[in-house]
Amino acid sequence: MLENNLPSWRQDLKSSRKKEGKSPSNRWVQLATVSQKNEPRLRTVVFRGWHKDNSMIIFTDRRSEKIGHLKYNPNAEILWFFLKSKSQYRFKGKISELSDNKNYWDTLTEKSKSSWFWGSPGKKINPKFQYDYEIVSNPTKSENFVVLNFEIDSVDLLKLEKPIHKRYLWEKLKKWEKTEINP
Ligand SMILES: Cc1cc2nc3c(=O)[nH]c(=O)nc-3n(C[C@H](O)[C@H](O)[C@H](O)COP(=O)(O)O)c2cc1C
Repeated sequence: MLENNLPSWRQDLKSSRKKEGKSPSNRWVQLATVSQKNEPRLRTVVFRGWHKDNSMIIFTDRRSEKIGHLKYNPNAEILWFFLKSKSQYRFKGKISELSDNKNYWDTLTEKSKSSWFWGSPGKKINPKFQYDYEIVSNPTKSENFVVLNFEIDSVDLLKLEKPIHKRYLWEKLKKWEKTEINP
């Protein structure tokens, strides 16, 4: 643990993010869920910040497939790879929905709010539907807007280094103690 009670992996992650620079891709992570057929499904999502120290916030659309997956099985994994520090973080945990999400909706630009009013993700496109990029100022929150709370249970960091790679594991059950493991 760090002095301010944050797990020490938060510090490692912070320095990996800092090395990567300010590119928007610095916040793109891969989220894995388990489908109702017990098949793995992966997609890129945007990391939207922290909730209560050890949970990651993700925005999504209620009509997307991952919502059905998470109802069936809340277990998920997030993979975050940093090119500059050659570091791979694998976060294991559980996802729930934050019911009070209005303050998150308010952080979005009008343009990004509009995507929650488009047609259902993954369904056949309706050629008559006008995708409104120049969205009129719409103060109403979309019913499709969902804020996911990914509560982290363990973190596995692999750093490619010379002559030997380094690998560390932190587990919430073990009070986030940092353990070096074989790469
Ligand atoms: C760079 C990038 C960022 C994305 N960010 C998000 C996001 O924050 N939330 C989200 O639900 N989908 C995001 N997507 C779209 C997802 O990758 C995916 O296509 C969509 O969520 C539907 O996934 P599902 O059918 O598995 O639910 C992003 C895609 C890309 C390429």
